Amino acid sequence: NVPVITLDGPSASGKGTIARLVSQALGFHYLDSGALYRLVALAAMKRNTDVSDEHSMVDIARHLNVSFRDSSIWLEGKDVSDEVRAEACGEYASRIAQYSALRVELLGYQRDFRKSPGLVTDGRDMGSVIFPDATLKIYLTASEEERALRRHKQLMEKGINASIADLIQALRARDERDSSRSTSPLQQCEDACLLDTTGLSIDQVVSRVLNMYAE
Ligand code: C5P
Repeated sequence: NVPVITLDGPSASGKGTIARLVSQALGFHYLDSGALYRLVALAAMKRNTDVSDEHSMVDIARHLNVSFRDSSIWLEGKDVSDEVRAEACGEYASRIAQYSALRVELLGYQRDFRKSPGLVTDGRDMGSVIFPDATLKIYLTASEEERALRRHKQLMEKGINASIADLIQALRARDERDSSRSTSPLQQCEDACLLDTTGLSIDQVVSRVLNMYAE
C-alpha cells in the first residue's frame, strides 16, 4: 500500500508549510486539499455564483480545469497562486466546504493523488474521511495568538497590513465554522497524533514529523 501522511488542523496552524517540506524531504507527492476548496471558490466568485448555490458548486468542481505545477496553482490556464490564497477566497471556501455533495465530488479527485512513492497531504478531513487508512495521521495546532502572528507575517510579506485583533477574530470565525459543520467537521481523529507547534521553529516541526514517520 502506498504510504500517506495526513496533516489536519485549524487555519494558520502551519500545515501547508510543514506538509510541503515533509513531502520534499521524503520525495513524496503533495496535496494541498484546501486549495481545491479555494479553487472552486475562486471559479465560483469569477462567475458571480451565489454562495448558497450548492448545485453550481458541484458542477464547478466536476469541470474544474486546474493544474498544480511545482508550487504554483493554475485555474483555466491562468496562474492563480496569489489569488487563491486571498482571505476572501478562504472565507468563501469555508462557506462552500459545508456542502456534502461538493465534498463527495472532490473525494475521488483527492484520493487519486495517492501515488508511489507516497503522499503527504494537509487539510481538515484528510485523516478522518479521505485517507482513513493513512500510515501516519497528525493533528497540527498552535495557540490562537501564534497562528494570528504567523498569518500576520505572511500578509506583511505580501505588503498587506492587518491588525492582530482582526486576524484573531477571523481565525476564530473560520475555525468555528469548520468545526461545527455537519459534514466532515474539523476534529482530531482518535488515531491522529497531536502536534502542538506553539514555540517551535519550522525545522523542529518538520523533524518531529519525520521522526514520527520513521518510528
Ligand atoms: O486550509 P485552507 O485555509 O486553504 O482551506 C480553506 C477552507 O477549505 C477551510 O477553511 C475549510 O473550510 C475548507 N477545507 C475543508 N476540507 C479540507 C481542506 C479545506 O473543508 N480538507
